[in-house]
Amino acid sequence: MAKSKANVEAQVQTLRRDLEEHSYRYHVLDQPIISDAQYDKLMRELEAIEAVHPELVRPDSPTQRVGAAPSASFAQVRHRVPMLSLGNVFDEAGFTDFDAKVKRHLGMPAEAIVTYAVEPKIDGLSIELVYHDGQLVQASTRGDGTTGEDVTLNARTIKAIPLRLREAYAGELEVRGEVYYPKARFAELNREREEAGEPTFANPRNAAAGALRQIDANVTAKRPLSALFYAVAEPSRMKPKTHVELTAWLAGLGLPIPKPTLCEGTEAVLAVYRDTIVKREGFPYEIDGLVVKVNDHGLQTDLGFVSRAPRWAIAFKLPAREEVTTVESIRVQVGRTGALTPVANLAPVQVGGVTVTSATLHNAEEIARKDVRAGDSVLVRRAGDVIPEVVQVILEKRPSHAVAFDFPTSCPSCGTTVVRDEGEVVWRCPNVVSCPAQVRERIRHWAGRRAMDIEGLGDKIVNALVDKKLVLDVADLYRLTLEQLTTLERFGDKSASNLLSAIAASREQPLARFIFALGVRHIGETVATRLAEHFRSVDAMLAATEESLDGVHGIGPELASAWVGHFAMTENRALVEKLRSVGVNPKPPVSTVVSAQLAGKAIVVTGTLSTMSRDEAHARIVAHGGRVASSVSKKTDYLVAGEAAGSKLAKAQELGVKVITEDDLLAMTREG
Ligand code: IVH
Repeated sequence: MAKSKANVEAQVQTLRRDLEEHSYRYHVLDQPIISDAQYDKLMRELEAIEAVHPELVRPDSPTQRVGAAPSASFAQVRHRVPMLSLGNVFDEAGFTDFDAKVKRHLGMPAEAIVTYAVEPKIDGLSIELVYHDGQLVQASTRGDGTTGEDVTLNARTIKAIPLRLREAYAGELEVRGEVYYPKARFAELNREREEAGEPTFANPRNAAAGALRQIDANVTAKRPLSALFYAVAEPSRMKPKTHVELTAWLAGLGLPIPKPTLCEGTEAVLAVYRDTIVKREGFPYEIDGLVVKVNDHGLQTDLGFVSRAPRWAIAFKLPAREEVTTVESIRVQVGRTGALTPVANLAPVQVGGVTVTSATLHNAEEIARKDVRAGDSVLVRRAGDVIPEVVQVILEKRPSHAVAFDFPTSCPSCGTTVVRDEGEVVWRCPNVVSCPAQVRERIRHWAGRRAMDIEGLGDKIVNALVDKKLVLDVADLYRLTLEQLTTLERFGDKSASNLLSAIAASREQPLARFIFALGVRHIGETVATRLAEHFRSVDAMLAATEESLDGVHGIGPELASAWVGHFAMTENRALVEKLRSVGVNPKPPVSTVVSAQLAGKAIVVTGTLSTMSRDEAHARIVAHGGRVASSVSKKTDYLVAGEAAGSKLAKAQELGVKVITEDDLLAMTREG
């Protein structure tokens, strides 16, 4: 039976109100409470109704605008040409429909083949840069599409954004792209925020938004933001006649681009789509789909625009990494710094190809805010490589017996009353020395692949060692005997002696790993490497003062005080002394560690690297005996190609120069 007119109107109103509220939370507050997929679904519902009832369309409907109003704290910038959005398709059939519509609009026969340029859809923040005579003069966010925020000062701090174009360009050039937070650095950021008791970001997009929209650009400068550019304001007025040529031209100007793949017809696009689903995790930035663009600018002009999006491009969304499952129970974990983290034990569920059995609930405030209870049905999301999280509870499905979670007042591991520093959100167990959970976590961290890398020291063995009190701190590992190990359940002579050799070998790990392994708050891997280069010995490490760390590259006052504060505590100094007494003797970094693979080789670095800047890569190459060259020739030995490598990559391939990845470079230059 057809719905009455009044019913339809009421439904449209509800949808609009909900969409407005969610859009405000997402764009203005950076605090979404529903997933993008859910938002898209609401928008499609509204679009579908409006398509059938055009008389209900109002100029202020969310379908008639691009985003939310800019926040008042930045100056407003009017885009000379509005920044539009894209239509979405969610599956292969949806894309085939899009292709059919393109051909219909162009008056082509159904069997014609359209050439598309296919790019990753970067899940970041859209930005417009204005260059005047080759100089960056303005950067702005998209805002509502017509008016955005002036973030010039912030954007200038992003190293991927050139302040001056590499080729002369007279007059105004408006380029458009995406600012993003590199995935590799995102997990680190959240870990640090968690340890500092600050709220974590739900995904890299929110972290990028938080970092870019800082009133104080100095704060932005400290964040490892990056950017990619894929459009200009008026493509049809440019010299390049296709999208692929346009991006190559942008790359030539020194702008980072996501390299498009040229696809002849739908099958080729679908092949890229299927491949991207598999390779999604491998991108250094979050992607939520592909953007498929009609390659030819002339055809783009013929196709034109519908209200909020071009007819010549479409966002081809990847399957959502969100699922609904139930919370079986809630446990509270104690980390190596004593922080209590609530975790939901979930009924196993496949999310984006991975089985998820638990999800973080962050901290006591988060669990209360979301009101997650055992027995609840919840929406679970995976964003990149980060720990899965509970997005929201589906209240309609809450069982009547579900009771609110009572956050423990004593440590679930040792029973000590938990404490919380003023202004912090994190509760901690203060029993630093003997809380079994903290001891266990510190040992796991010490043995970790990125720390002292002790193979064979897995969770089960660590648990057994701590439970039997064979190990009270990490130094005790170096006193373990074959006899002690073989008393452990299911631990034979062979595995015991293998473990002992692995432990012994770790005595000589490089200083940077040792520093990271100590697990000082705020000292991640990158900082540990910098500190190791600065200190070069354990003695210097213990002697550091806040003054002596002043001015050390990459070590701000906060890190300096964390470091000095750590070693002001007797037990922390005592642990280092104890480690020395059991023969742990970390190797200092050598100024020039000539790497056999790099010595005397000519190396060019191109594209955006995910773990270091190009300068850092150059320094690394030189430190290992290589030579840095700026252009590719027959004499080049290696080209290190990062993301969005452009003409240099093509040249290297043409000349048969060996192309290596950032990981290869890291492997070739790994110390120790
Ligand atoms: S092209 C006329 N290409 O997705 C519109 N957009 O959902 C031109 N985005 O507003 C947009 N990656 O912020 C384009 N490779 C890509 C993209 C991309 C991410 C963003 C962009 C756009 C939004 C639409």
